[in-house]
Amino acid sequence: MVSNEPTGLWLVGARGSVATTAVTGLLALRAGLIEPTGCVTERAPFTELGLVSWENLVVGGHDIAGTPLDKRAEGLADSGLIPHRVLTATAAGLRGVDASVKDGYHPATHAGAQAAAAERLAADITEFRDRHGLARVVVVNVSSTEPPVPHVPEHDSLDALRIALSEPGRAVLPPSSLAAYAALLAGCSYVDFTPSPGIRLPALHELAVSSGLPYGGADGKTGETLLRTVLAPMFTARALRVRSWAGTNLLGGGDGANLADPVAARGKLESKARGLASLLGGEVTAPLHIDNVPDLGEQKTAWDHVSFEGFLGARMSLQLTWTGLDSALAAPLVLDLARLTSAAHAAGLSGPLGALAFFFKDPIGSDEHRFAEQTTMLTEWAATLASDRAREDTP
Ligand SMILES: NC(=O)c1ccc[n+]([C@@H]2O[C@H](COP(=O)([O-])OP(=O)(O)OC[C@H]3O[C@@H](n4cnc5c(N)ncnc54)[C@H](O)[C@@H]3O)[C@@H](O)[C@H]2O)c1
Repeated sequence: MVSNEPTGLWLVGARGSVATTAVTGLLALRAGLIEPTGCVTERAPFTELGLVSWENLVVGGHDIAGTPLDKRAEGLADSGLIPHRVLTATAAGLRGVDASVKDGYHPATHAGAQAAAAERLAADITEFRDRHGLARVVVVNVSSTEPPVPHVPEHDSLDALRIALSEPGRAVLPPSSLAAYAALLAGCSYVDFTPSPGIRLPALHELAVSSGLPYGGADGKTGETLLRTVLAPMFTARALRVRSWAGTNLLGGGDGANLADPVAARGKLESKARGLASLLGGEVTAPLHIDNVPDLGEQKTAWDHVSFEGFLGARMSLQLTWTGLDSALAAPLVLDLARLTSAAHAAGLSGPLGALAFFFKDPIGSDEHRFAEQTTMLTEWAATLASDRAREDTP
């Protein structure tokens, strides 16, 4: 197994904040302009895996927005996310990557059967892989969050799904799941960084496994939920009784605007709530809401109020405030996930990658939400990959 072969990172939502920050960061890392702060795969034991180098990670993607990457990066620089010296040094590179960003699928503008749209999306990825001579491509969904999808029987069987996809005018899959289907058609591994339905339909699981492709997700764990999965196990371990855990999120940017729609926000709220319910038990009151505050731009503030009970019923509370530049937290994880998922594909793994739970609010293929346990799972998984690699390399 040789992992450091030219490898593709195909971003669905390639011109959004997270994607633009990831691409700008990748170009800056290649040029030695920044430290890999926040990149987990730059630390032991991941450095033993022979993961794809920044130089060999080639980016393309789909988006439905037309604003080119260098213009998006200018906006992010103005909001304090990207240093101006990095913007200046990477602008030409961003324009180069933007040339590999193709039109995404939008149900409102697509006429005809969804099968044709999926084939077109898959052909874009295949052309990108061939043009750059890539060993494999990892598709990462960082597009706008979609609401949960109503269940239909065609989501449960690949044969039935294929028939429904060929019916003209029928949209059996939401855009995120069509993107996941196209990724699998193109023979790519897939990662969902969003809480959208994406690959989480049984028919798509069937396709991934029958195609020998690994996938991971869902919904990057970058701020408030990361803290919750560190702190909640502490209360449990010390036998303290959490009575309620209320959360308020204030955010702006594209994600804030999208989540101002209560329908779109449903998926995000459910994804955040599932982790806490699993950590503390369903009986804890845990109201959570998200407000769009455009003034905050790329900054996100989460305020949590935890009410808990100790010995003799003593009532106490913990309050925490987290203010993060969301895309700066997310972007290095997107690069880490591309590297690790590519290594899993190269190692012949297929189906859900539960060991990647460390990265996600709502892990696919694992029920483990406790951050310390997730860290151990990921490290052990990496050690297994490294020892398999060492065995294969031994003459
Ligand atoms: N810390 C974080 O930033 C974080 C953490 C977890 C999850 N996420 C998720 O990552 C996603 C991206 O966040 P963002 O802040 O970059 O949002 P954003 O609004 O800036 O970017 C989303 C991009 O997706 C594009 N898009 C929408 N529909 C599409 C489609 N059908 N095909 C292709 N592209 C499409 C939009 O045009 C836009 O460019 C969101 O779903 C967000 O919930 C972000």
